[in-house]
Amino acid sequence: MTKPTWAGRLPGGLAPEAWEFLHSLPHDRFLWRFDVAGTIAHVAALEAAEVLKKTEASKLRRELERIRDHPELIEDTDEDVHSAIERVLTEKLGDLGAKVHAGRSRNDQVATALRLWSREKLAGVRHAVEALVGILAERAEEHAATVAPGYTHLQRAQPISLGHWLCAHAFSFVRDLRRLDAALESTDVSPLGAGALATSTFGLDPKVAAAELGFGETFDNSIDAVSDRDFLADGLYACSMALIHLSRLAEEIVLWSSSEFGFVTLPDAWATGSSMMPQKKNPDVAELARGHTGVAVGGLTGLLVTLKSLPLAYDRDLQVDKQLVRDVFVKTRLAVDAMSGLMSEIAFDTDALAAASGDASMLATDVAEDLVREGVPFRDAHEQVASRIAELEAGDPRRSVAKRSTPGGPSPKSVKAQVRKLRRLARTR
Ligand code: ARG
Repeated sequence: MTKPTWAGRLPGGLAPEAWEFLHSLPHDRFLWRFDVAGTIAHVAALEAAEVLKKTEASKLRRELERIRDHPELIEDTDEDVHSAIERVLTEKLGDLGAKVHAGRSRNDQVATALRLWSREKLAGVRHAVEALVGILAERAEEHAATVAPGYTHLQRAQPISLGHWLCAHAFSFVRDLRRLDAALESTDVSPLGAGALATSTFGLDPKVAAAELGFGETFDNSIDAVSDRDFLADGLYACSMALIHLSRLAEEIVLWSSSEFGFVTLPDAWATGSSMMPQKKNPDVAELARGHTGVAVGGLTGLLVTLKSLPLAYDRDLQVDKQLVRDVFVKTRLAVDAMSGLMSEIAFDTDALAAASGDASMLATDVAEDLVREGVPFRDAHEQVASRIAELEAGDPRRSVAKRSTPGGPSPKSVKAQVRKLRRLARTR
């Protein structure tokens, strides 16, 4: 255990079990690069407020830039990533390193580093979701006129086009883009300068650090600045919804790749075999994407419960935030990227889809609607057709789909319009 930053107050030292429980290095070392950036910004604010001389600030900045890409400087005995950086600076620069924490607390420091990290990760998730929408739109364009069976209750319902189904999934991801944009917006606030909760007596200008870090805004209230984890909740919600949508797509791919459906052939590059059963080709990518949904919803639930009834300002409960978000923000991107790869190469068996769409019973609604056109009230038409389902003759599912030209419907023309809209929406922020 390295001497804690607060050892002056409690010289007796921590019980080893207390240290084991309290230290957060295993869960925050990933913030190294971001905490170094936050420290550089704090040095700029100290310099602007003339707490540090120009030469002191340049020396500190040079050293911080030197260590930025060297997280291996962390020692297992450090309490957390923040004290590790201060230790490294002090070992190298002596008294000058020991000056860096003036006007700052780990409370505003950790909030800053987390926001920087989240901004990078959520932007990456956004990028991945945008790419997925593009791939689904492309496949939809390719299959605008491919007939496929449409389902409700997982029972054959009415013929649709494969492009219509692909666009349906794509539109759910467009809504995720909006949620990710909202999360990025609430992340874009700099807490630096808030100190422990009540700023400092140095007259630091929060705008200096914010500009250095590229944050659009500075905190409105220093107590709120160190207590606020809404940006993580927003990011977790956005990721949860994206993964929930991904799980719905994944689930259908799992079903469609089964021998029972036989609608798709998984690309070799995005499938796995079995260690024991030589014949197997498994949809593990889709399954793991589906599986990560639970991790995200768990993280969101965990954070919400952590925040509930938490007194202002910083409380140590907040230390668990990193455990709740880290895997989610990282793995959401991996899951989306993997599903994009899978969807760009998956082979649709258009013959199997056409054969399933040729099920005469799926045209029952069309027959009833023909009777309506002849003047029969719909309820009577429904009853008449229902009583002779078995006698229905196979019709042409292609014609049925082509006739459904309502905007947003399955006809090839409607699908092409949807593809254009998807491309436009995915681009605009
Ligand atoms: N390791 C802590 C965290 O992750 C840093 C903040 C500690 N601050 C404090 N006052 N104990 O939240």
